[in-house]
Amino acid sequence: MRADGLSAVAPAFGWTVLTAVWAILPAYVPNSVAVVVGGGPPIDGGRTWRGRRLLGDGKTWRGAVGGAVAGFVLALLMDAVRPAVAPSLPSFPLPAAVALPLGAMLGDVVGSFVKRRTGRERGAPFLLVDQLGFVVGALAVSFLLAPEWTVATFTPPVLLVVLVLTPLVHLGTNVAAYLLGLKDEPW
Ligand code: CTP
Ligand code: MG
Repeated sequence: MRADGLSAVAPAFGWTVLTAVWAILPAYVPNSVAVVVGGGPPIDGGRTWRGRRLLGDGKTWRGAVGGAVAGFVLALLMDAVRPAVAPSLPSFPLPAAVALPLGAMLGDVVGSFVKRRTGRERGAPFLLVDQLGFVVGALAVSFLLAPEWTVATFTPPVLLVVLVLTPLVHLGTNVAAYLLGLKDEPW
C-alpha cells in the first residue's frame, strides 16, 4: 500500500480499535473484579454431576455478583462522561449496561461448566473457552436484551477487533494478576 493510502486507512483503523475497546470494556472489567472480590460460597453449592463438580470452587457468588455490579457501574460512568470526553464513541443504554457485564459473568460460568464436563479441574487451561467465553456470553446477552444497539455497535470490523484483541488482553491481565499474587495460574 502506498504511504498516502496507509495514512488514510490508519486513523480509521485506530478509531475501530478505540471503539471496540470502549464498547467491550464493561464486559472485561467483571472478570478482573471477580478475581479480586471472589471467594466464599461457590455458585454450585458444592454440587456434583456425574462425579464432577457442576462449576467448581472458582465460580463464587461474591465474584459473579461483584464483577457484574462493577461492570454495570462502569458502563453507567462511561455513559455519563462520554458526551464530554468522546461524543463519537458508543453510548450505553440501560439494557446494554446490564447485558454486557451480566453476559460476561454468565459466559464465564458456562465456560467452567464446559470445563468440568470435559474433565478439566478448576484452574486447568482451556484455550479459547478461557479467553473468549466471557466475551461471547456478553455479546449474546447484549444481542438478546439490546439487539439494535448490539448490531449498530459491534459492526463486523469492531467485532473482528474484539475477537482478536480479547485473548491477548485476557492473557495480559491474567499474567499481571498472577504476578501480583491475585491468581493461582497465569491464564
Ligand atoms: N472468581 C470468583 N467467582 C467468579 C469468577 C471468578 O470467585 N464468578 C475468582 C475465583 O477466585 C477464581 C478466580 O477468580 O479462582 C479466577 O477466575 P477463573 O480463572 O475464571 O477461575 P478458575 O479458578 O480458573 O476456575 P475455572 O477452571 O472454573 O475457570
Ligand atoms: Mg482460570
